[in-house]
Amino acid sequence: MLDQKLEEYAKSDIYPFHMPGHKRRMQMEVNPYRIDITEIDGFDNLHHAEDVLLDAQRRAAELYGSQKAYYLVNGSTCGLLSAICAATERGGEILIARNCHKAVYHGIELRGLVTHYLYPEITEEGIACAITPEALQAALQQYPGVEAVLITSPTYDGIVSDVARIAEIVHKKEIPLIVDEAHGAHFGISECFPESAVRAGADVVIQSLHKTLPSFTQTALLHICSGRVSARKIEQFLDIFETSSPSYVLMAGMERCIRMMTEEGAALLEEFFGRLTAFADKMKRLEKLRLLTKASFPGKSAYDFDASKLLIYTGDADITGKQLYDLLLQKYGLQMEMASGSYVLAMTSFMDTEEGFDRLAQALLSIDRTLKGNGSGQKGEQAAPFSVLYAPQEQLVTISEARDADHSIIPLEEAKDRTAADFLYLYPPGIPLIAPGERITGKTIRDIHSCCDMGLQVHGLLEEMRIEVVNFS
Ligand SMILES: Cc1ncc(COP(=O)(O)O)c(C=O)c1O
Repeated sequence: MLDQKLEEYAKSDIYPFHMPGHKRRMQMEVNPYRIDITEIDGFDNLHHAEDVLLDAQRRAAELYGSQKAYYLVNGSTCGLLSAICAATERGGEILIARNCHKAVYHGIELRGLVTHYLYPEITEEGIACAITPEALQAALQQYPGVEAVLITSPTYDGIVSDVARIAEIVHKKEIPLIVDEAHGAHFGISECFPESAVRAGADVVIQSLHKTLPSFTQTALLHICSGRVSARKIEQFLDIFETSSPSYVLMAGMERCIRMMTEEGAALLEEFFGRLTAFADKMKRLEKLRLLTKASFPGKSAYDFDASKLLIYTGDADITGKQLYDLLLQKYGLQMEMASGSYVLAMTSFMDTEEGFDRLAQALLSIDRTLKGNGSGQKGEQAAPFSVLYAPQEQLVTISEARDADHSIIPLEEAKDRTAADFLYLYPPGIPLIAPGERITGKTIRDIHSCCDMGLQVHGLLEEMRIEVVNFS
């Protein structure tokens, strides 16, 4: 049973190199059931905040420097849905980075938008790079009808785009820039980590507190930073997408987190950065595995990089990302955030202990000693699918048209030239290989096979390698 299983897990020695950022180490002074209330007298109403919750949200806005902040208890997901709907007309046009989270695609589907994409380059390790101002400029010229631009910065892997220059370009068109900063709630508080999109000039910024800070899962913030998107509209959409029973336990946790960051965030993040630097120094002793750092993303591939994301590259060794992930868990009790074909991601926060970092360093150094170099053969095999996986796809109809049309479920092998009715993506990181409305090509079919062969889970792929397609093609 889930509750008992979780209690057992809490007692185990497994160390969490994954979300949430509290790393299971925060304590509540009171039993959470004692403060789990509804909107009773004196405790305000999140959907019409005018008292204690209004003050709490003001403190969040002050911390990050936004005009207005909204507490979200349905994650960044409900913030993204609301921001997209508020910034566009129904059936309008939006320009998004292809590596956006599925919540962005869901917002697009609900609003019936025509989607144009910015395709980030993919490194040989299989990591999506930054969105460049040049690519943005070209896309805005190509698609003059775009009503809003949405990018993810930092990405799940920690790649940061030049939000300040991107915002400047977007604003010349007098349209808003929405930044999915779900993985960057720790930005803008200490100089050790990148600047937040809030201060870099974005118009709406969404941050998951739970991913990188000590806050309960599902807690997030939506910041309004300018008048380019109507706050009234955002509130109307939050009313739709967010529960009418926001948890006071979650909101109390958010207030504690914001207070902690306001009072001692800079010092905590600086200390944390010291631990990350010491860890990176130890990782210089690796011979086959490799810790990717800011220097691994030269030129325009990353404007900046979040050092709290530990990307351990396996492509120079005779081990895949998934095998390393399994070994770290099974032999060393270290639970990673995710495995990709040729790297493993450990997510860290300032709540990570010295002991946790030591355990990870020791484990990686021991594993590294047992590995053989890979030569160029296997490295090429692993990296190739990733470097070409997210190539532009031909759009036949919009996402919502494809979703609303009649569907059939057919074997993947027979899907060539049919129109996708569902998303196909690897989770993590949740970037679509193909979106509804796009033509399925022979290459896509081969790519999906490669991902399955590498042991990666392809979501949207049904039992017996079948997929959902639109009937009208
Ligand atoms: C880049 C990105 N954006 C948005 C989300 C959604 O955030 P939440 O889980 O807080 O709803 C995620 C979740 O993993 C994410 O990785």
